[in-house]
Amino acid sequence: MLTGITDTVQLANGVKMPRLGLGTYRSAEGGDVERSVLAALELGYRGIDTASLYGNEAGIGKAIAESSIPRAGVFLASKVWNDEQGYASTIEAFERSLDRLGTDYLDLYLVHWPREETPETWRAMEKLYSEGLVRAIGVCNHLEHHLESLIASAETAPMVNQYEFHPWLQQPSVRRYCQERGIVVQAWAPIMKGRVGEVPELVAIGERHGKSPAQVAIRWLLQHDVVTIPKSVHPERIAENADVFDFQLDTAEMAAIDDLDRGERFGPEPDRGGDR
Ligand SMILES: NC(=O)c1ccc[n+]([C@@H]2O[C@H](COP(=O)([O-])OP(=O)(O)OC[C@H]3O[C@@H](n4cnc5c(N)ncnc54)[C@H](OP(=O)(O)O)[C@@H]3O)[C@@H](O)[C@H]2O)c1
Repeated sequence: MLTGITDTVQLANGVKMPRLGLGTYRSAEGGDVERSVLAALELGYRGIDTASLYGNEAGIGKAIAESSIPRAGVFLASKVWNDEQGYASTIEAFERSLDRLGTDYLDLYLVHWPREETPETWRAMEKLYSEGLVRAIGVCNHLEHHLESLIASAETAPMVNQYEFHPWLQQPSVRRYCQERGIVVQAWAPIMKGRVGEVPELVAIGERHGKSPAQVAIRWLLQHDVVTIPKSVHPERIAENADVFDFQLDTAEMAAIDDLDRGERFGPEPDRGGDR
């Protein structure tokens, strides 16, 4: 049952991860990202998603340190970027991320895109995990065949798969594959990069509940047991995106949103390894 912003999902290793966190892609380093992370933590968010690619880890670390929330109260995730993949380079990238974030561990470390070097990258992730430097490890943008081949040679299976997931791009077979194997599905672009208002069905369902189309899209994911990380740099939107625990979509509304799938991506094809 969904109860509030502090709801968590249990990963395969027992670690608890917030169902709703803050995304930070394109939240500019410095004032923007610091203000948005501080606002989110004040509002009760406890999950923050970043990546070495985003160039904002220092601001995120600063905001967490300045907040009233102890480091252990925040679930902090980052990612190894494409040109950092490989065994030694992943360990080095991880150390750089820790240094910028001003912390000595991560809650979740993710492979940003599947690449040829990912098996080597994964060995490094497993080492970081076994040394207790990261509480959980996972991947992003992995389709079933990427997961199959990774799991075949892995000692530890990924605990999370974070991929593009919104009403226009649902990839039901990837979700089924992950959920059947205990891999938590985390949606990126949950509010369609801000374009939810262009979807009349989301607007209409929202009007019935006194909610915005963004809130409907986020609620729909959560009701599908998909965790998510909407991004905003505006405190009022950060609050809006978390105000999704006082209404419920019924079966017909869930099905109507399921029907909006048109296989449309905003981001790159996973088979192209993050290159457009
Ligand atoms: N693993 C990956 O490959 C990957 C790829 C992309 C993203 N991600 C992660 O997932 C997070 C979310 O994805 P995303 O940032 O691409 O897309 P998103 O969260 O779907 O959309 C963010 C956009 O929506 C706007 N917005 C925020 N709240 C809104 C609201 N209530 N109503 C209307 N517009 C709103 C934001 O603008 P303002 O900021 O101006 O409010 C921003 O332009 C990222 O920030 C990042 O942490 C991961």
